[in-house]
Amino acid sequence: MKWIYSVSLAVTLAMQPALADELFGPHPLTPEARDAFVTDLLTKMTLDEKIGQLRLISVGPDNPKEAIRDMIQHGQVGAIFNTVTRQDIRAMQDQVMQLSRLKIPLFFAYDVVHGQRTAFPIPLGVASSWDLDAVAQVGRISAYEAADDGLNMTWAPMVDVTREPRWGRGSEGFGEDTYLTSEMGRTMVKSMQGKSAADRYSVMTSVKHFAAYGAIEGGRDYNTVDMSPQRLFQDYLPPYKAALDAGSGGVMVALNSLNGMPASADSWLLKDVLRDDWQFKGITISDHGAIKELIKHGVASDPQDAVRVALKSGVNMSMSDEYYSKYLPGLVKRGAVSEQEIDDAVRHVLNVKYDMGLFNDPYSHLGPKDSDPVDTNAESRLHRAEARDVARKSIVLLKNRLETLPLKKSGTIALIGPLADNQRDIIGSWSAAAVAKQAVTLRQGMLNATAGKATLLYAKGANISDDKGIVDFLNLYEQAVDTDARSPQQLLDDAVATAKKADVVVLAIGEARGMAHEASSRTDITTPPNQLKLLAALKATGKPVVVVLMNGRPLALVKEYQQSDALLETWFSGTEGGNAIADVLFGDYNPSGKLPSSFPRSVGQIPIYYNHLNTGRPYNFEKPNKYTSHYYDAANGPLFPFGYGLSYTRFTVSPVKLSSSVMPRNGTVNASVTVTNRGDRDGATVVQLYLRDQVASISRPVKELKGFKRVMLKAGESQTVTFPIDVDALKFWNARMQQVAEPGKFSVMIGLDSATTQDAEFTYL
Ligand code: NOJ
Repeated sequence: MKWIYSVSLAVTLAMQPALADELFGPHPLTPEARDAFVTDLLTKMTLDEKIGQLRLISVGPDNPKEAIRDMIQHGQVGAIFNTVTRQDIRAMQDQVMQLSRLKIPLFFAYDVVHGQRTAFPIPLGVASSWDLDAVAQVGRISAYEAADDGLNMTWAPMVDVTREPRWGRGSEGFGEDTYLTSEMGRTMVKSMQGKSAADRYSVMTSVKHFAAYGAIEGGRDYNTVDMSPQRLFQDYLPPYKAALDAGSGGVMVALNSLNGMPASADSWLLKDVLRDDWQFKGITISDHGAIKELIKHGVASDPQDAVRVALKSGVNMSMSDEYYSKYLPGLVKRGAVSEQEIDDAVRHVLNVKYDMGLFNDPYSHLGPKDSDPVDTNAESRLHRAEARDVARKSIVLLKNRLETLPLKKSGTIALIGPLADNQRDIIGSWSAAAVAKQAVTLRQGMLNATAGKATLLYAKGANISDDKGIVDFLNLYEQAVDTDARSPQQLLDDAVATAKKADVVVLAIGEARGMAHEASSRTDITTPPNQLKLLAALKATGKPVVVVLMNGRPLALVKEYQQSDALLETWFSGTEGGNAIADVLFGDYNPSGKLPSSFPRSVGQIPIYYNHLNTGRPYNFEKPNKYTSHYYDAANGPLFPFGYGLSYTRFTVSPVKLSSSVMPRNGTVNASVTVTNRGDRDGATVVQLYLRDQVASISRPVKELKGFKRVMLKAGESQTVTFPIDVDALKFWNARMQQVAEPGKFSVMIGLDSATTQDAEFTYL
């Protein structure tokens, strides 16, 4: 037999030739070969070894490496997460290969959400690029760096659609829209998994959080979700389906309940929908500790019951709790769980290990030992140019009064703000193995860009927050926010004095990364008051003020909008963030980002989203009427609509041309516009297609995104953009839960944001 395995495996297996002969080989990566192999392997496993495979363990203070090694040796662990260096991963895989009875390789997973060693912008930022090539770039490089660290799986992409700016985890997703999120999620899966998850530089994805976690009530993390089946199937489920159709090998089950049923106990969701309807063949993994939590959800009476319910409902592998290991043996013994049910779950674990190529080479993502990097954080392992490119594309220009931007690289610039010179926050939450010390701050980026041609003054101006409760919360588990010892007034005075010496002020304000993270829900979505006080004081100096926002959620930016001359949404832009923002500030890059979520004026407007229903009494601001749907104490729309973003040049969109005014049954219609760059700078913009079903058997949204295209146009240049519209774009879930396209009139709206469009209509026959 011809062997293809790494040098270290050869050495290891030389000690155990008999077992190696049985398990490892050049196994063809086909479903048929896999099924035969796994069926055979299952016959060799004891019940305890099978149950061991269902345990995914997190390395950390509760489970130190040493304790885990012992469990590995005894076949009590199926996979590991939170171990991120080749040395550590190799040591654990060696343990399996040298000491366990069956030598079933472990797989290694991690939250590679927006990069591994190199941090790209947070996903909400990447979504703002509306650029699938940029998304693919993030996916490929994240997978490359993760696989180069020895990892096999990532807990990504997160495709939870959310209309909830209070929820801190919106930062991990792609915004409020189903279509945009589906496109981004699909692209992430394809780019991370590559041709095969077994390839040297691919990782398997695990789409999360199934399902509808983004719709938690009040935006309070881990809270309840309750929604109509139409909304679930129309708006919330499609992105998971798109990611699975793209081949994602894994699904992470959500922590929340959906219509009263915790997802980890929901056999309708995990079996009927996922397996039967969607034909998902990969693995389901619970979220952290979710099986235990079934007791608190009130659907299991005790630990045994929780395990029984989760396993029977379709949760294959348990993340970070010992419940499956502890209670499944007893449950099988007393017949509450059958060995067949255990086998079904184990089969999924072994299947994904097979698909990862681990039975061909357990060291496939490790290589020989002497190839391990001496310095895991070596500069040479980063992908800075790509990170800078994506970060520039993710920046959204929200206001530019009198062309304040771009700035000149001359004169004196005052850079002020708690986020201006901060390496930790700019890389964002869930920044995987990225090292803050390798991040470029805005201050450094501006110094690089001006290269001595302008004078750059700096003052901190304020802390992230003067609210001790908030600062203590952020510093609860680690030192996450540094507080300047000077008093708020001293900081402010210093900033004002600095501003007075300058021609223009650049003010970097917003959130610390920990404010837009898991378990970081807010009832107030404005910039903290001390930072707004700083803005007001700087505005009062009369100097032009450019506000650079760093944050991980849509914020209510009324004050920033009123008091700034230019406003730039930069999200948390990653390792190369400072250079990328400086590129935009100085016009070396013309901003092209568009908002992936509506930005409300106040928390009271939530939920506010562009694809709402019309209601029977829609508000018309041109003819206000008391008895229409609106608030009397605020304007009705968002401050910035979905899809919005300015440029340093000016684009126009021609009227829409349709290839036909009728779409035959199951046919297509092409909708075209010509986009022209009427300014004197080259630039990119995003052309967006929206549709509306004018009259249907149920009320349909005022518009829904159905296509987009990012176009790059030289000054003065025009381009015609054509969107083919097919019957799938017209379909919706009707009152009887059938997915249908109903005959009738459809509006076609094309524009550069969701609020200002060119309109036409066709009839579906
Ligand atoms: C809990 C989070 O909900 C999930 O998104 C994450 O992947 C796991 N912890 C592992 O870190």
